[in-house]
Amino acid sequence: MAPAPAGRGAGRRAVVAAVGAAGLTAALAACGGMSDAGGSGAKNAEGGGSQDAGGSGGEAGGGAGGTLAKTTEIPSGGGKIFKAEKVVVTQPKEGEIKAFSAVCPHAGCVVNEVAGGTINCPCHGSKFDITDGSVKHGPATKPLEPAKVNVKDGSVTLG
Ligand code: FES
Repeated sequence: MAPAPAGRGAGRRAVVAAVGAAGLTAALAACGGMSDAGGSGAKNAEGGGSQDAGGSGGEAGGGAGGTLAKTTEIPSGGGKIFKAEKVVVTQPKEGEIKAFSAVCPHAGCVVNEVAGGTINCPCHGSKFDITDGSVKHGPATKPLEPAKVNVKDGSVTLG
């Protein structure tokens, strides 16, 4: 009968030892896991740095009721065509700013040149006076429509 309890005792010790080893392994694994987590955390922080995406909508450039030009940009005795706004701004005399629609009344082309005292249409050769938009050369029979602009502090704005 004596060996039996001893055997049981040995059995218990063996079980305890096994649990202890398993516990140690689990503890080591946990430590390893924690260091891995730290590493990936650092990577995430790096990835989070790219936040420069949204820069659209910032193009407040030319138009929308804003300044067309400085009066100094309009040649005296000539003019300048603003195709996007479909407006021609002229300065027949120094300091005298005029503006007309850039749409030719003949067939609707947009004029493309101010030269020799006239605003010229490329489509069929009509020419309009830079002073009042009147027809200087056909086939157009009607003058360029006047356009509204304001001149203030040396700047020409659409009115
Ligand atoms: Fe301008 Fe014909 S559309 S001349």
